[in-house]
Amino acid sequence: MKDPAVRDDADPNAAATLSADEAALLEEMPDLHGIGQTRRTFLGQSVAGSLGWFATDLLAQEAALAQLAPAAGAASAAPAAQNLARVSFKVNGVQQALSIDTRVVLLDALRERLALTGTKKGCDQGQCGACTVIVDGRRVLSCLTLAASCEGRDVTTIEGLARGDTLHPLQVAFIKHDAFQCGYCTPGQICSAVGVLDEARRGEASHASDDVTATTTRLTDDQIRERMSGNLCRCGAYPGIVAAIQEVHSGRASAQTWGFADEQQLADARKEDGHATV
Ligand code: FES
Ligand code: FES
Repeated sequence: MKDPAVRDDADPNAAATLSADEAALLEEMPDLHGIGQTRRTFLGQSVAGSLGWFATDLLAQEAALAQLAPAAGAASAAPAAQNLARVSFKVNGVQQALSIDTRVVLLDALRERLALTGTKKGCDQGQCGACTVIVDGRRVLSCLTLAASCEGRDVTTIEGLARGDTLHPLQVAFIKHDAFQCGYCTPGQICSAVGVLDEARRGEASHASDDVTATTTRLTDDQIRERMSGNLCRCGAYPGIVAAIQEVHSGRASAQTWGFADEQQLADARKEDGHATV
């Protein structure tokens, strides 16, 4: 037998089984159509209402987009042309002239337009230093520098440091001190180190200077670490990096701590390991 308190939504006579409270409410608010309707009817009306709103909204959006769409044939030419700028600057001593979107950063201009891929993209948001290059003698993060802002400037990248086959002293020192492993951060580290040495020559203080009002020309290891702190190395080659920069800065040669093994050393090592000599 049916429980009168449980309404059967499938029962077409369900309205007749309203409780006294519901019947009174319906009497007071005849527009309250939910009361007395079956759940299926109510859900059907809700879904239909939602779809109606959705369809209306979709049509409104399509109409708005249709107004924004460029005429056939004009395609995307208009927005691109709006942002183009002609930029001339020197890169590694060579004059370059680029027609470039004003939103393009120097890093992408160097890598994508001038094929100078030595400058690396790490974080692309000014956090790692991998993209460091030198602009007018000062180190900058090329991922945060608009190419258009380099008009008339002099840019030096890692490719521009060597003179023919003669490496820059910092490049020699990085090799000597084993200051890299994977090498991804190395172009940025070396360009940044070039900037650090120039800052020292100009006597500029850093946060690690004991007296920031005094002219600094002699860098301690701590000062080198602080000045290079914007250049991260995921391989942890920091001891070698500091040693390499200190050697070039101070002019005092320190011992190389590694070397290639010669044939005899290799043969001895194989014998010790019990491998047959081939
Ligand atoms: Fe520019 Fe990381 S790529 S700071
Ligand atoms: Fe690998 Fe620095 S050498 S990240």
